[in-house]
Order: sequence, then C-alpha cells, then structure tokens
Amino acid sequence: MHDSGSQLPVALERHYTPQNCSDKVALAFTKFLRFFADTFFANRYGHRAVVLETVAAVPGMVGGALQHLRSLRRMQSDNGWIHTLLDEAENERMHLMTFIEIAQPSTFERLLIVCAQGIFYNMFFLLYLVSSKTAHRVVGYFEEEAVYSYTEYLAGVDSGKYENIPAPQIAIDYWKLSPDARLREVIVAVRADEANHRDVNHAFADQLSH
Ligand SMILES: [Fe+2]
Ligand SMILES: [Fe+2]
Repeated sequence: MHDSGSQLPVALERHYTPQNCSDKVALAFTKFLRFFADTFFANRYGHRAVVLETVAAVPGMVGGALQHLRSLRRMQSDNGWIHTLLDEAENERMHLMTFIEIAQPSTFERLLIVCAQGIFYNMFFLLYLVSSKTAHRVVGYFEEEAVYSYTEYLAGVDSGKYENIPAPQIAIDYWKLSPDARLREVIVAVRADEANHRDVNHAFADQLSH
C-alpha cells in the first residue's frame, strides 16, 4: 500500500535552478537524454512510461545500497536516507508494474530496456561513487522531466487522444483508488510520486553540497 500524498496538492512546476558546475552537468545530461526519449517515443506515452520506469527504478536501489555500505564503513547513521531511497526504488517499480498493464513494449523496446539497464546501472553506480551530490541532482532533474511528461500524458487523456481506460487493479490497490478509477487518476497519482522524488533528490543534493 502506498500513501505518498496523492491526495495532497503537489507543487508541479518546481524547477531547481543550477547553482554550480555539477548542477549544470546534471541538467545538461538530463536534457540530452530527454531529447532522445522525445525523438524515440514521440507521442506513445504508454510505451514511454514503461521503458523509462525501468530506468527510473534503478537510482534508488543504487543510492540505497551505496548509502548502506557507507554507513557500515564509517559506522555512522544514514539519517534515514537508505530507507527513503529503497522506498523510491520500490515506488518506481510499482509505476512499471502499473504501466505494463497499460502498454506492452515491442521486441525492440525490450532489447532497449535490457541494454539501457546494463549501461545506466553501471554509469549511475560510478557517478554515485564519484559524486553522490551530482547523482542526486541528476535524479532531481530526471523527476522534473517525469512530472512534465506525465502532465503531457494527462493532457492527452483529457483531450481524448488517449482512451481513459479503467485503472489496472494493481494501481487501485497500491494507491487506494476507488474501484471505478480510470487511467487519469493513475497518472495523477504517479505524477505526485515523481514530484515527491524530485523534491527529495534535490534536497539530498543540497545537503551533500554543504
Ligand atoms: Fe516513475
Ligand atoms: Fe521518477
């Protein structure tokens, strides 16, 4: 069960203005990847969600594992970071479990998912070792883009471009939606989660820069 505030008003439009070189690199890297995602998926938002959620569920697990090891090595408290990061990974995986009920990736997309995981997992692991601050900033920016993309998806549902199909049961159970909930409510709940990850990761990056 998940209750990460999907009933609460969420600040959707928040953007963290880059403060230094590390932030600028994180933002440039995010925009670079966004360009490829926009080109590849165009308006196929269901497919976009599935493929990108397979990537989105990686950083929390990597960050959680590395913060766990850090806490062991230094014999110091993690200040609750490990739990927060592992929760984020689980939440993102539930986004995937939800969207796989809505869109099924093509054979090529499945291949892309496998390759992207191999590359992204290792890259993010190394980035986190070198600069956990930049790694969290990257995730903060990824999540800004996720909020934006889900807002576009929602607009498409509202305009009738995408059918407002019944919500998958897994989503109704996870976000405690009403039994007759539809895709629209699922997207609103997922977007609220992304906004929460955005704020948490930017805050972690801020803490690491002090
Ligand atoms: Fe997500
Ligand atoms: Fe996300």
